[in-house]
Amino acid sequence: MTSPASSTLHPAPDLSGSTLVRAARQQPVPHTPVWFMRQAGRSLPEYREVRKDVAMLTSCRTPELVTEITLQPVRRHGVDAAIFFSDIVVPLQAVGVDVDIVAGTGPVIAEPIRTRADLDRLPQLTPEHVPDITESVQLLTAELGDTPLIGFAGAPFTLASYLVEGGPSKNHERTKALMHGDPQLWSDLCARLAQISGAFLRVQAQAGASAVQLFDSWAGHLSRADYLRHVEPHSRAVLEGVADLGVPRIHFGVGTGELLPAMADAGADVIGVDYRVSLPDAVERTGGRYAVQGNLDPALLFAPWEALEARVREIVEEGRSAPGHIFNLGHGVLPQTDPTVLTRVVELVHEISAR
Ligand code: CP3
Repeated sequence: MTSPASSTLHPAPDLSGSTLVRAARQQPVPHTPVWFMRQAGRSLPEYREVRKDVAMLTSCRTPELVTEITLQPVRRHGVDAAIFFSDIVVPLQAVGVDVDIVAGTGPVIAEPIRTRADLDRLPQLTPEHVPDITESVQLLTAELGDTPLIGFAGAPFTLASYLVEGGPSKNHERTKALMHGDPQLWSDLCARLAQISGAFLRVQAQAGASAVQLFDSWAGHLSRADYLRHVEPHSRAVLEGVADLGVPRIHFGVGTGELLPAMADAGADVIGVDYRVSLPDAVERTGGRYAVQGNLDPALLFAPWEALEARVREIVEEGRSAPGHIFNLGHGVLPQTDPTVLTRVVELVHEISAR
């Protein structure tokens, strides 16, 4: 495999001493690191300005825009990590899937994948499909200096749900019908998606990302038995496929209280916890072996400051039960969030966790 020549010109920075990476590795930190899922996005006026004439997926494929948008929340909030500005459907688009991101709706797929012939049209991802991603990560890590960049990908189940349903789905009925009606086709589809996600993570880590997060946002819609049988092996393939790169791996889903042990054991270093499960419960369920990330309810950012402050203090305290804690929300920043509140939360977490 060829790697872009420029990667040798800009060696990836070693940010293993950053609070994010240290907390993920269960090493002592001077303060609890904090970042927010969807910290880049519509909550920021500077984001709305940059995006006003540019389609979502066009912005994701334009390195200068990716760099600017990724940096915006770092500049404004002083968070301890940047999350790469992209989307879980970017690698699908890169291999030729006709996908659009519709504002207020989410990804919409022109020709859903429901048959063997459909799957045969879905190629593997190679670095040559995404030279812009390598370039974006290199531009970003040069600008970010000491702040680590988190790369990410969608997990096979969540990607499969979009591909099979053709768009966002409340009940994932076509997806589950395929999983149970044609387990071989389901497995082959997820294996292909695991290759695509794994390759997408590799490109980001090799270009300089200091950690990676696998988003299985909709896995909480599955029973534990279905997760273990039909999904976990594929997510494991993604996570184990990047183990050799030495970057911490964060595994996150929504409503996954019943799945936390399985998701942690699938090859994660850090388990993402949504707001439904307390951090001490998450620690107990995962045997105290994993760092945790979470878990402020994003809706609480709309509560009076006193109530929000009390909850932030509680979460920082609860995080001490874990061998490592990265403060985050239980899911993404809501678009109407007042960004000045996010900045205040960062300052508060830093202040009360200083040691
Ligand atoms: O700041 C960050 O967190 C980085 C960027 C990021 C985006 N998408 C940008 C985005 C990340 C990590 C994602 C991942 C993603 N995309 C997930 C997993 C995380 C999760 O939220 O559970 C999922 C399920 C998607 C699919 C997707 N893309 C949805 C559901 C939406 C929202 C649709 C809407 O308009 O409400 C998108 C679009 C999207 N991805 C936006 C952003 C900033 C909004 C686009 C806009 O500004 O109009």
